Amino acid sequence: MELQYQTGFGNECATEALPGALPLGRNSPQQCPYGLYAEQLSGTAFTAPRVENRRSWLYRIRPGAQHKPFEAFDGAAGWQSAFGHGPVTPNQLRWSPMPIPAAPTDFLEGVKTWGGNGGPDEQGGVGIHLYAANRSMQGRYFYNADGELMLVPQEGRLRLATELGLIDLEPLEIAVIPRGVRFRVELLDGAARGYMLENFGAALRLPELGPIGSNCLANARDFKTPVAWYEDVDGDFELIAKFTGGFWRASIDHSPLNVVAWHGTHAPYKYDLRNFNTIGSISYDHPDPSIFTVLTAPSDTPGTANMDFAIFPPRILAMENTFRPPWFHRNIASEFMGLIQGVYDAKADGFAPGGASLHNCMSGHGPDADTFEKASHADTSKAHYIRDTMAFMFETRRVIRPTEQALASVELQGDYYRCWQGIAKHFDPKKA
Ligand SMILES: [Fe+2]
Repeated sequence: MELQYQTGFGNECATEALPGALPLGRNSPQQCPYGLYAEQLSGTAFTAPRVENRRSWLYRIRPGAQHKPFEAFDGAAGWQSAFGHGPVTPNQLRWSPMPIPAAPTDFLEGVKTWGGNGGPDEQGGVGIHLYAANRSMQGRYFYNADGELMLVPQEGRLRLATELGLIDLEPLEIAVIPRGVRFRVELLDGAARGYMLENFGAALRLPELGPIGSNCLANARDFKTPVAWYEDVDGDFELIAKFTGGFWRASIDHSPLNVVAWHGTHAPYKYDLRNFNTIGSISYDHPDPSIFTVLTAPSDTPGTANMDFAIFPPRILAMENTFRPPWFHRNIASEFMGLIQGVYDAKADGFAPGGASLHNCMSGHGPDADTFEKASHADTSKAHYIRDTMAFMFETRRVIRPTEQALASVELQGDYYRCWQGIAKHFDPKKA
């Protein structure tokens, strides 16, 4: 089944799965078409400025309130929201890919939190997670009251069946599910692995472009929002909620994916990273990686994001007399990186697709010894084509606190520091 989508970013969308299901002129008519219930889903304060404001009106078979009481749920123990307050190791950290589990594991059961900061009470910070699963969610629906979710699949296609429609997602695409939207994750290839960002702060949006102009980076036209879709199914199901860092389970006798029509701005969307219009230097030097920002979640401090999502896609390096790979650096921001496919140009090996690295605030990092030597002697009169690669970074203003399960993981590479130990001393005070 080829799915349909609406295009654009942050638009007021309007869609109906049955003709005439969307009331015209009124959000809440006395009686809705087809006997539907009207329900508003707010993603921002009612009085948030128009440019920030996100809400959708849902026209559904049963209201979202109709379920049995919630009780504590322990089936998603790997997904954590408490990141601690003590000291964090300043070591550079890197992990090999997490294996696909052998035991039956759905998406919720397959999430493992690797690090994070802030939390839902603060309405700021992020949770950074890996997921690995081998079966679809069955009879189970989920929503996250703590934040919006960005899925970055690395292996295996997903179908996200959401209240607001269906999204098919494959590696090299990302999807964002807004806070509160109910959904189910189906695996289209039997197994799936990837990364997930949980944003506790202000919603992700496109970065400002400044002097770049009205185009480039991620273009709004390439974002896709689903059209209305519903299932009218009764049965013995469970609704799982993540709320205040805990997980909760309620019995529900129908599918909550029962929205026949909707309009609004609080809606899931997907984006194909291959559509990113990458810009870079065409004279000399390697610009700051902010030019690779796909989406940003601002904080209350201008220009200092709660979280930036940046990618390192295929590109052409043409800068002359320049060390072309990412330079050595120590930043105030903290960087969690993942690799979707190919090779990252700052590392010769050890950073595998599905793996991860963490370079926290002021921890030195950059090219490894092999990459440095090669790039220092490369012929920069010729363009260098970087193909078949897609690395990404979750960059946050706050320190990313690795979880105990990440630090105890067998995938943690204890010898990562060695990649910089072979860097030779070239200094000679007699040679300019
Ligand atoms: Fe970095």
